Amino acid sequence: MEFNIAVLPGDGVGPEVIAEATKVLQAVGDKFGHSFHLHQGLAGGIAIDTLGTAFSEETLNMCKRCDAVLLGAVGGPKWDDPKAKVHPEDGLLALRRELGLFANLRPVKVLPMLINSTSLKPEIIEGVDLVIVRELTGGLYFGQPKKQWQSSKGRQAVDTMAYSEAEIKRILQVGFELARTRSKKLTSVDKANVLQSSRLWRQIAMEISADYPDVELEHMLVDACAMRLIQHPSEFDVLVTENMFGDILTDEASMLAGSMGMLPSASLAGLPKGETFGLYEPIHGSAPRRAGQNMANPIATILSVAMMLRYSFELGAEAQAIENAVLATLEQDYRTYDIMSEGKIKVGTKEMGELIARRVKCL
Ligand code: IPM
Ligand code: MG
Repeated sequence: MEFNIAVLPGDGVGPEVIAEATKVLQAVGDKFGHSFHLHQGLAGGIAIDTLGTAFSEETLNMCKRCDAVLLGAVGGPKWDDPKAKVHPEDGLLALRRELGLFANLRPVKVLPMLINSTSLKPEIIEGVDLVIVRELTGGLYFGQPKKQWQSSKGRQAVDTMAYSEAEIKRILQVGFELARTRSKKLTSVDKANVLQSSRLWRQIAMEISADYPDVELEHMLVDACAMRLIQHPSEFDVLVTENMFGDILTDEASMLAGSMGMLPSASLAGLPKGETFGLYEPIHGSAPRRAGQNMANPIATILSVAMMLRYSFELGAEAQAIENAVLATLEQDYRTYDIMSEGKIKVGTKEMGELIARRVKCL
């Protein structure tokens, strides 16, 4: 089969991890007889430097013409001035919004061979295998009004947490559908004791749960959830939450797996079934201090490619081949700096990518 993929390497370690992920994709193509056509585009700080804007119509249209988008990371100290007119992050947010990528899936799985490379006790994180479904195109990130202004009392600022019924419904449906394919338990995370948007969220969750009698629904307040995630993480299976809560909880949950460098993500424009358009990216950022040193762990981006094959191209066996190759490489003790421990073999970004690509071909 043939597929067109928009590739946006972005900033910092983005281009390095993308190079390895596309190497692995090529290996999948060779092994299974598919052609993946890659179309490079600009996003983030590099777009600001080259085009003067973090987001361009050209990049957007290119993404729209493709079957899926693969993104590295955006941002860096060079563009961090809070007074700057444009930020690299604006480009990513506009892309999410314009492409309708409302459903962000962030799986967190603790791999047995990495159980000792986290800061939590092995008995707490053993068996952790959860997915956070984060709403990605609404809430505080996009609600209006959103501005800073000068008033007689000094400077003021406002952001708005706004959600419509339709926006809440479709993301909860993603949560329920995903729960159906896993252990049939869904935790809906909100702040219904304080926020109106959360009260609406909770009402709609209860209404929709009638359509999913086979899925057990529980509600949890976001502060309690933040605590439970490090206290009893293995209790969770699928969690669903609004944009900002999801942003914070996914960084927290990533620490269960030892390193952000291990965690992939999918941002989908529909339910996770059939061939759904999506953008795939590691959950880590551009890690500017590691850039250009062949250090970054490419596994998060490589596993994001596996998610792309599964959700956008319906190539389950090919996705599995990548996941197996990652496991085999770790089982043979290869580690990047972020997951390194005593007695293991330390490798760089390129070596890790090559080791995984080779295993995709021969496993
Ligand atoms: C993420 C990131 C982004 C977000 C930033 C880069 C805008 O933190 O994908 O979690 O807040 O959504
Ligand atoms: Mg984040």
